[in-house]
Amino acid sequence: MSQKKRDILVTSALPYANGPIHIGHLVEYIQTDIWVRFQKQRGHNCLYVCADDAHGTPIMLRAQQEGITPEQLIADTWTQHHADFTDFDVAFDNFYTTHSDETREFSELIYNRLKEQGHIHSKIITQAYDPVKEMFLPDRFIKGECPNCGAADQYGDNCEVCSATYSPTDLINPVSAISGEQPIEKDSEHYFFKLADFETMLKEWTHSGHIQEQIANKLDEWFETGLQDWDISRDAPYFGFEIPGAPGKFFYVWLDAPVGYMGSFKNLCEKNGLNFDRYWARDSTAELYHFIGKDIVYFHALFWPAMLTGAGFRTPTAIFAHGFLTVNGEKMSKSRGTFIKARTYLDHLNPEYLRYYFAAKLSGRVEDIDLNLEDFSQRVNTDLVNKVVNIASRCSGFIRKRFDGKLSAECAEAALFQEFINANDAIAEFYESREYGKAMRAISALAAKANQYIDDKQPWVVAKQDECDEELHAICSVGINLFYVLAAYLKPVVPQMISKAELFLNTGELPWPSDLSPLQDHTINKFKPLLTRVDPDKLAAMIEASKESLEKIAPN
Ligand code: 2FM
Ligand code: ZN
Repeated sequence: MSQKKRDILVTSALPYANGPIHIGHLVEYIQTDIWVRFQKQRGHNCLYVCADDAHGTPIMLRAQQEGITPEQLIADTWTQHHADFTDFDVAFDNFYTTHSDETREFSELIYNRLKEQGHIHSKIITQAYDPVKEMFLPDRFIKGECPNCGAADQYGDNCEVCSATYSPTDLINPVSAISGEQPIEKDSEHYFFKLADFETMLKEWTHSGHIQEQIANKLDEWFETGLQDWDISRDAPYFGFEIPGAPGKFFYVWLDAPVGYMGSFKNLCEKNGLNFDRYWARDSTAELYHFIGKDIVYFHALFWPAMLTGAGFRTPTAIFAHGFLTVNGEKMSKSRGTFIKARTYLDHLNPEYLRYYFAAKLSGRVEDIDLNLEDFSQRVNTDLVNKVVNIASRCSGFIRKRFDGKLSAECAEAALFQEFINANDAIAEFYESREYGKAMRAISALAAKANQYIDDKQPWVVAKQDECDEELHAICSVGINLFYVLAAYLKPVVPQMISKAELFLNTGELPWPSDLSPLQDHTINKFKPLLTRVDPDKLAAMIEASKESLEKIAPN
């Protein structure tokens, strides 16, 4: 590879440690994992870290509900999340937790540095308080009638019926969602981060190629409204890190969540002897990317770069935001069976189907994507099984039976093979810019070409003719060589299928095919099915199981 070797650190958003991973989450983890696998295949030094987001009121209350400690809850959830990610082939270099010494140390360090420089101040605020439960109530734990339309049982920040947004004090007949008691108002001292101190830096940063244009426009609206102080403390009882020098006050979960990226990376450095500063120091030349959903842009594109700058660390190279997932054109729904947990999916279907389907639908923009279940089966069956896998299965039998598993000594279609190789720059650019849909279409067009070649040459007819062995050998060897290049292109998306292909091709791990030469005089192994078609019965069973596995998920 002629390109310079890059040092790249990549993160996906940290999932909350009180609920299962579902297919909505998986859009991001699969998107990131494909990008990381692509970078690794290109020979770059790319590291991918994540962690469970383990703090906050919902986690504390969920543990209480279940009669266990928050530590026990987050440990159990970590095990489940870790298994789900592993089984979807999301290959983190480290999957950690924010409830760690590393994250605590960096949270304290960042807070102390911000404080020393006058970016933290405190003031007394008045908030809703549950007198029975003896705790302050986050907006989402207060319920009442919507002040706009009167709908009953609405949460404290917005109405699900008329979509009005308001503050919990506006609710009519408010009650605590925890005790059912009417909340009282109570004063408390809170700590604030003065985001406006970083306005000049943030305006510059958000307009110099670090975020997508759509997001930069959104941020401009926020700048116009004015950057508000950010409340970074919560009162006990709270599951989190106590603020240094402030007994009974804890860091708000969103303060230590992004710090969890550093914590997880630090933990990896300790395990693997890597140099933390090389990636995080202000003058670092490493690249740092955060993949996130569009709902958490404010935290990543404003608070986070400001915190990092104020505390003397580098800022991210880029923030990559994606849209949400709909299923069959609608929000995921438990009653329709489209709120599909990662585990329920895995119980029924091959993870590579979903990886491929998401890749086919994803772009570098902040658009929502739709999982249409009919389209899902059709694309996987048509593009992957019928088109790609079929090339190998059509040619391998003849090579095994008639030529003892050995490919011809010369590639009979050097120009065609080279055409496949020459596509690598364009396909690489699509992967790099997260235009996976375009990458999949380019690969599919090549696969169509390979099939056309085989259709034109009709090896099954040639095989029946006398004295045509050489021709048959040439055709099938070309077919296998074209499959070889396609497999290399698909490796970031369907790693299990391609590792079976690597065994079949007897090549070892396929590199990015910029310098690949045809396999000549090379023995391949017996072909075993690389991927089977989506079984409609299993798809239906997964939907059915999702309807049954209803479980109330605590709000975050
Ligand atoms: O929105 C969420 O699910 C958060 N748990 C994401 C945190 S990302 C990072 F900042 F930690
Ligand atoms: Zn309403």
